[in-house]
Amino acid sequence: MNRAPKGLSGGSSLDPARVPAHVAIIMDGNGRWACARGLSRIRGHLAGAESIREIVRAAGELGIGYLTLYAFSVENWKRPKREVSSLMALLKRFLAREEAELNRNNVRLRAIGRIAGLPSDVQGALRKACAATASNTGLTLILALNYGGRSEIVDAVRQLCARAARGELTAEEVGEETVAGSLYTAGIPDPDLLIRTSGEMRVSNFLLWQISYAEMHVTPVYWPDFRRPHLVRALLDYQRRERRFGGV
Ligand code: IPE
Ligand code: IPE
Ligand code: MG
Repeated sequence: MNRAPKGLSGGSSLDPARVPAHVAIIMDGNGRWACARGLSRIRGHLAGAESIREIVRAAGELGIGYLTLYAFSVENWKRPKREVSSLMALLKRFLAREEAELNRNNVRLRAIGRIAGLPSDVQGALRKACAATASNTGLTLILALNYGGRSEIVDAVRQLCARAARGELTAEEVGEETVAGSLYTAGIPDPDLLIRTSGEMRVSNFLLWQISYAEMHVTPVYWPDFRRPHLVRALLDYQRRERRFGGV
């Protein structure tokens, strides 16, 4: 009888004791996936939402503690107005529809980014879904929305300057923990594994501070095609790495 936890069976040799605590994903390639099929880019984003559903469920079952998904960057506002508004509408619908599924899977939802810069109806849907899942104890799903790594650092510096101006903090007291504790991700462990789909070899302003020592896995697979077996493959790749953190 196979006693492996759900998701660790099926011929894979994943070591359940070395599953990364935090996986971050740059979900890329929705547009190219759609173009390759003669569809509109929006259809690619719709298909990408299916991948999110499957990967969130799989991540929880595989024992990952935190899953951060890059869903909309501060730079993505440059896209055609129609695409941006479709993405916002899709996001709002996703939040409303997924609430029950998140609760069924014991997933707690959080968001990072300049949330106040999102349309107010999206903010409302986000607040509602986060509140409705706040007491769940399984996977923490973190959506990066209107997120930029540089704006996150700017926001942290502003916060620290304000504390210094109030006399609560001196320059000498600022250390790595102080900075990390002022980021949107305060209290969340740094990602162990960073996955990017669609083959691009760049970070695109994602979690600049937090990925210092993340292992990277880039797959040519477009996000709408990225499913559970691809996640397992990324985890296997991660488990083959030797993490040295600058040591020997
Ligand atoms: C990722 O897919 C989704 C978002 C950035 C919102 P893209 O829309 O970037 O797809 P490509 O890279 O153009 O194929
Ligand atoms: C990164 O993808 C942002 C998200 C996945 C939300 P982009 O498609 O926006 O990044 P670039 O433009 O290829 O660097
Ligand atoms: Mg892209």
